[in-house]
Amino acid sequence: MIVLKSKREIEMMKSAGEILASVHKELAQLIKPGITTWEIDEFVEGFLKKHHATPEQKGYKGYEYATCASINDEICHGFPRREPLKEGDIVTIDMVVNYNGALADSAWSYAIGNVSQETEHLLKVTKEALYRGIEQSVIGNRIGDIGHAIQTYVESENLSVVRDFIGHGIGTVIHEEPQVPHYGLPGKGPRLKEGMVFTIEPMVNIGRYQTKMDSNGWTARTIDGKYSAQYEHTIAITKEGTIILTDQD
Ligand code: MF3
Ligand code: CO
Repeated sequence: MIVLKSKREIEMMKSAGEILASVHKELAQLIKPGITTWEIDEFVEGFLKKHHATPEQKGYKGYEYATCASINDEICHGFPRREPLKEGDIVTIDMVVNYNGALADSAWSYAIGNVSQETEHLLKVTKEALYRGIEQSVIGNRIGDIGHAIQTYVESENLSVVRDFIGHGIGTVIHEEPQVPHYGLPGKGPRLKEGMVFTIEPMVNIGRYQTKMDSNGWTARTIDGKYSAQYEHTIAITKEGTIILTDQD
């Protein structure tokens, strides 16, 4: 069942989203060669505390950190660790913020110093793919229109879309219906209605789309060792138009 949210609920989720967006804006300044994902995670937890918000991922299904920090060939759910990031790396920081019981979810990929042209291209296409998905997220369209737009664009740039992890409805819990694949067919899936709130979070690979799981049971990485990037927003479908709840602008 897809739970439709009221105006008031969407407003509350927007407040969580604004805090989350300001975390990412801080991270854009903070992340440089030498910093560790452990330090990033500590920064995020402190920042949220200062803003009377909490990291919803911590304790979720036994996950132990405020953030997921996925480096290079890690696709998602990387553990923060005490290993300095170095020039040429990329890292995706993903988090869910809880503010007064309302949630927002957003991931962003960051380049560490100068990265290769191939990596620049990956980051640019992945971010654009997110916005192409958002563009399709209007009342009357279907969920499949979102994935189709993302997949078509990404593959036209000779990159691949991860199938094993998808976007999701979100509200007072992290994962709700609907499921939002970043691939698929136009005109398929549930129709978008006023009050739906969900994430779009394409994970895009330079090489093959398949994933393999680390022995920690959480971290997914590419099977060919090539880099993977991800950008994620939480969006709300309203009569007045689609709102990006985690917008950084
Ligand atoms: N933020 C993630 C998402 O985009 C959820 C992470 S689940 C966790 O779906 F357990 F790792 F926290
Ligand atoms: Co997320």
